[in-house]
Amino acid sequence: MVEKNIILEISNLEKSFGQHHVLRNINLKVHKGEFIAIVGKSGCGKSTLLRLLAGLETASDGKIYTDGERFEGRNQLAKIMFQDGRLLPWKRVVQNVGLGLKTDWRQRAKKVLEQVGLADRANDWPYVLSGGQRQRVALARALVHEPEILLLDEPLGALDALTRIEMHQLIEDLWMEKKFTAVLVTHDVEEAVALANRVILIEDGEIVMDHSIKLPYPRQREHPLFAPTVSQILNRILKKDKMSTSDLRLTKIE
Ligand SMILES: Nc1ncnc2c1ncn2[C@@H]1O[C@H](COP(=O)(O)OP(=O)(O)O)[C@@H](O)[C@H]1O
Ligand SMILES: [Mg+2]
Repeated sequence: MVEKNIILEISNLEKSFGQHHVLRNINLKVHKGEFIAIVGKSGCGKSTLLRLLAGLETASDGKIYTDGERFEGRNQLAKIMFQDGRLLPWKRVVQNVGLGLKTDWRQRAKKVLEQVGLADRANDWPYVLSGGQRQRVALARALVHEPEILLLDEPLGALDALTRIEMHQLIEDLWMEKKFTAVLVTHDVEEAVALANRVILIEDGEIVMDHSIKLPYPRQREHPLFAPTVSQILNRILKKDKMSTSDLRLTKIE
């Protein structure tokens, strides 16, 4: 069953909390280097799915493979970044980034801080940074481990619109340079289209749409197909335009 270049494979995954069935019959294959966005209304199970991929949650049924293998406990190939950054307030920026590294932690942390544009803030305390800067630190802290898979749970949800756009560009640059696989949970369809080559829609705990985005990278918001792609997906989510679903490739569960 091991297919080459499949970094994540989810097979007949189910997740319940007590009587509450949160995810049902989830099947998904993610190729190495893809950028997947998972969209859907609040409470549909996006974060639960991401936590399952990280190994922070265990499945009620079904299997998850990472690089062809099932994992116990944490997914060692993945790092996760959350909306609230989760920086330790009593550690300086560089120490936050270097957390958990053994050798050369300071040099490695500084190098990644430079990549996220914060070389000059290494010795600051987290509280003096803006929200956007704090998320850059959180991103640096995930990337310093050079993960094969970067899991992002609404990492920009608390930022203002302009900072979000800057962060999209930064994430895109780093993804293109480092070639990790990214899985981004977001409720923002524009963000999904700005970054992902595939957008997955979850509705009532099931994948109801798996849509490839053919726009070139680096993504340009002014590309003539950008806005129509966003509206097409939004309409599908809001079920305004039922006809548009025929244009979208509905998931075929093998
Ligand atoms: N640890 C938990 N215990 C009980 N219910 C949970 C737990 N985590 C999530 N849920 C429930 O699962 C559903 C999906 O949650 P979540 O994955 O956080 O949704 P989303 O990220 O799409 O907003 C919600 O109804 C939520 O209340
Ligand atoms: Mg969530």
